[in-house]
Amino acid sequence: MRTEIAQRPPDTEVAEPTSSLPTLVLDALEMGALALDRERRVVLANRHIEDLLGVETGALLGLPGNRVFPGADARWLKGASRESRDFRIETGDRDLTLRAESMPMRDDAGEVTGSVIVAEAISETEDGEFQKKIDRLVSLGELSAYVAHEIRNPLTGIRTTVQFVASKFKPRDPRREDLDDVIQELDRIEQIITGLLMFARPPQARSQPCDVHNVLERTLDLLDIQLRDSKVAVSRELGEDLPLVIADPDLLQQVLLNLCLNAIQAMPEGGELNITTGVRRYRTRRSLVDVSIADTGVGIPKELMEKIFDPFFTTRSMGTGLGLPISVQIVRDAGGVITAKNNPGGGATLRVSLPVPAEPPGRPEE
Ligand SMILES: Nc1ncnc2c1ncn2[C@@H]1O[C@H](COP(=O)(O)OP(=O)(O)OP(=O)(O)O)[C@@H](O)[C@H]1O
Ligand SMILES: [Mg+2]
Repeated sequence: MRTEIAQRPPDTEVAEPTSSLPTLVLDALEMGALALDRERRVVLANRHIEDLLGVETGALLGLPGNRVFPGADARWLKGASRESRDFRIETGDRDLTLRAESMPMRDDAGEVTGSVIVAEAISETEDGEFQKKIDRLVSLGELSAYVAHEIRNPLTGIRTTVQFVASKFKPRDPRREDLDDVIQELDRIEQIITGLLMFARPPQARSQPCDVHNVLERTLDLLDIQLRDSKVAVSRELGEDLPLVIADPDLLQQVLLNLCLNAIQAMPEGGELNITTGVRRYRTRRSLVDVSIADTGVGIPKELMEKIFDPFFTTRSMGTGLGLPISVQIVRDAGGVITAKNNPGGGATLRVSLPVPAEPPGRPEE
């Protein structure tokens, strides 16, 4: 849907774009994106999918999903099967294959309100344009940098102004409470942008010999208030003489923070957070330092075990679904892995394993 936010009066020159920001963002994507409502009719389509299909702006709106993706069944259109499918499309003089994936779209309460379909051309007879996955990732990085730059600055301005106006009202004034809600929403946008940027353009790791126990204690210090508020008790079983690992301590702290936050959020009624560290020594390959974070929370449904590491997968209404993918990326860069399992007695355990360097490094300089 192309939402016009500014009507241009006749004979006026306007430099600003006339489309809404979400539309601009969608249109900047170098892949087709469209959204279907509950009745599986198109409610939003970006420019790329219109170009791919060779249709006019807005021509897809209101069409049944299976007219756009011939032969697609209701289950796939609703995003229930979560698998990518290829569709042969003949549009006048062109003949192309679209590879498309459909996923459910949910509102804040977690109710499915429709689906989002992303599509890219995998072959095209006309000019052989080939959209490679790597291009998509590069453009995601560029897009995020653009979004961060374009949104962050005005956002800060808006926040400052709203805060200033709010300060004019008495603390219990409902108008002030409304403005406080606005500030909270602005903070959430900021948090999403930060996550997106971290995922798309992770900071360069400043790897160094790193004491996992130090990082762990720093992380738990940061979480002190949250742990108390959520009635979560921490216990530790720390391995002795844990070897140093080569990692960026700040990024490793980010990983442990993400995992502990997930664990806390999985225990809305409170519970126990048990942190275990140890080393697994092998004769034929590198030893591993393990940090296991176990909770007594809701656990991870079996069918979601694979999905939790996917970017943007979340079961929390306030989640962005980037905590785990960012953590996996950081740990993978340090040569390690993150694994997840459910505990026999309930709750889940997420384990970070990092390789111990062949030559024991010196102690970190502190
Ligand atoms: N310890 C856990 N227990 C139960 N479910 C978990 C646990 N850790 C992760 N999950 C599941 O994995 C999903 C993805 O986690 P991830 O950290 O990537 O995103 P999020 O926590 O939902 O949002 P964000 O971290 O971006 O705020 C969560 O929404 C939750 O369903
Ligand atoms: Mg998380």
